Amino acid sequence: MTAKERLIVALDYSDEASAKALVKELGDTASYYKVGMELFYAVGGGIVRYLKEEGKQVFLDLKLHDIPNTVAGGLCSLSALGADILNVHASGGLPMMKTGAERLREAAAKKGVPAPKLIAITVLTSIGEMDWHAMGNERSVRDAVLRYARLTKEAGLDGVVASPQEAKAIREACGEDFLIVTPGVRPAEAAIDDQSRVATPAAALKAGASHLVVGRPIRAAANPKEAAEKILQEMECAL
Ligand code: C5P
Repeated sequence: MTAKERLIVALDYSDEASAKALVKELGDTASYYKVGMELFYAVGGGIVRYLKEEGKQVFLDLKLHDIPNTVAGGLCSLSALGADILNVHASGGLPMMKTGAERLREAAAKKGVPAPKLIAITVLTSIGEMDWHAMGNERSVRDAVLRYARLTKEAGLDGVVASPQEAKAIREACGEDFLIVTPGVRPAEAAIDDQSRVATPAAALKAGASHLVVGRPIRAAANPKEAAEKILQEMECAL
């Protein structure tokens, strides 16, 4: 996989015009985009179809979490939009993840198209140890992240979303083919914004990340295309 195939640019906007303007501005520099709740709830599925028509890959980051049948139905509806990666919360449990993955694959096979990849959120990186214990959990967040990653693999999913700090242990536990998508990536000289557990693009790849999600360091740069190109160069050095 090339650096470009591993860089996912987060389209964290609440309107279609701004999202499309960034896609135009980045042109061939970016080939993978993340559409999250903010944009999807504001403008709907048309944005995914637009990105696919532009020849881009799409990670539709809607983090589904409900009973198995409902999540499976939701995933099948979303897969009709053509996204390349969909996701659920691993805390929804093994049956939920397993049913979701199976039904996605069945739906794709029926249509004769490749199934989208399905990945899971382990523990949200916004949850600290204190919050985690207040929720009744006795073991550490790190321990839970690894348990959830193993459960995700057992359920037949393709990978997880994790912080760069967790990537190495997950790579060791879940093997080479497992997708590890890491947000919280910041080039050495960039502002860290509200991210607390950050890593440089090279460090995240060296730790075992398969894909990097980058938002503000590109979106808020004076020259987004240049910023993305610089990140790609940093990534290439680590590959
Ligand atoms: O702007 P920034 O590079 O921090 O954007 C990172 C993207 O990854 C945002 O869309 C954010 O919601 C998402 N994300 C994250 N941390 C997670 C999961 C997703 O920052 N644990």
